[in-house]
Amino acid sequence: MKRVLLIIAGGIAAFKALELIRLLRKSGHGVTCVLTDHGGQFVTPLSLQALSENKVYRELFSLTDESEMGHIQLSRSADLVVVAPATANILAKMAAGLADDLASTVLLATDKPVLVAPAMNVRMWLHPATQANMKSLAARGVQVIGPDEGAMACNEFGPGRMSEPPAILTAIEALLAPPARPLDGRHVIVTSGPTHEPIDPVRYIANRSSGRQGHAIAAALAALGARVTLISGPVSVPDPSGVSVHRVESAREMLDACQAALPADAAVFAAAVADWRVANASDGKIKKQPGAAAPALALIPNPDILATIAAAGPNRPRLVVGFAAETDDLLANAQGKLVRKNADFIVANDVSPETGIMGGAENAVHLISAAGVETWPRLAKEAVAARLAARIAEALT
Ligand code: C5P
Repeated sequence: MKRVLLIIAGGIAAFKALELIRLLRKSGHGVTCVLTDHGGQFVTPLSLQALSENKVYRELFSLTDESEMGHIQLSRSADLVVVAPATANILAKMAAGLADDLASTVLLATDKPVLVAPAMNVRMWLHPATQANMKSLAARGVQVIGPDEGAMACNEFGPGRMSEPPAILTAIEALLAPPARPLDGRHVIVTSGPTHEPIDPVRYIANRSSGRQGHAIAAALAALGARVTLISGPVSVPDPSGVSVHRVESAREMLDACQAALPADAAVFAAAVADWRVANASDGKIKKQPGAAAPALALIPNPDILATIAAAGPNRPRLVVGFAAETDDLLANAQGKLVRKNADFIVANDVSPETGIMGGAENAVHLISAAGVETWPRLAKEAVAARLAARIAEALT
């Protein structure tokens, strides 16, 4: 039995939550309700309790509830958290990360997927503040159903009505369904992070790649069932779980590790590999000599890992994905790379400092293939990773 934690906020649509509970129970799902103070103005805890056949939670600091089941546990014991109706107020609290009552605290503490069914006056829904909140919630992976358009309790017409309970049930069941694992049995290599190119045993040349995007891609591919070999340069982000991680330092070590990991069905080259290494790297620490000139560093090109693995041959993965991080002429450069490096996809992103993308939590990318250019919205790096993993799965099936 799957369990839904249903948060009922204060809106006239709260009466529809009763029907939603009935439908969920009829479909065999467990329901636990959290009722906000305002929600309690519209429906009674007794109705919720009778229909859900479960205790209804209302208070953040209830001695009995905290001893029986703390709010943190409440937020994690469900498979899915649903907010229906989701008022402008609770959505704003979610977007801001406020936790001033049980419902908002549960929403901040949960590690489970969250579905919201907005319900409010049309002007409140269309207000830029609400729209901005919805955008940031969507970027964090919150799922949304509705609102529908139609006549409203306040005698206005437009978008703002909560979706009907059968439609919310369908959305809930889609989220509760066991995750599809289209990459079961496939092996995918992912490179991530920067490389460190030694100058001497204590100094190196590096770049600002954090590894966040590459690591998120490895996690997203593993979530679709792939066996993932993540070959990572030095990063401080944690290893994704369920992924085999090989740590390397230099570009040459990264290439060796990629070749050793072949064969693979697909390879994603998200690492920011140093283009050059120091030709005359010293075996001992280079000494500062009083009065002597600073040492000159001669640079020589590193192997291009993407181009090497993507070159035609019996060991070429069926799908090779490269990245193009550019500050100028993004699309033209990326399209050039697709051809020059024999890649199947190029994920192109603008890494000008003002975008905050390098090292940041979000990414705005274009997916370039022989079929053309797709521009994706600015998304959390995890969401970009999930989309890319889905596209890789599609291409391999
Ligand atoms: O040529 P550029 O470095 O811009 O190409 C970026 C793409 O090529 C990325 O996917 C990066 O991981 C890959 N690359 C590589 N080995 C290199 C340089 C880049 O795999 N030496």
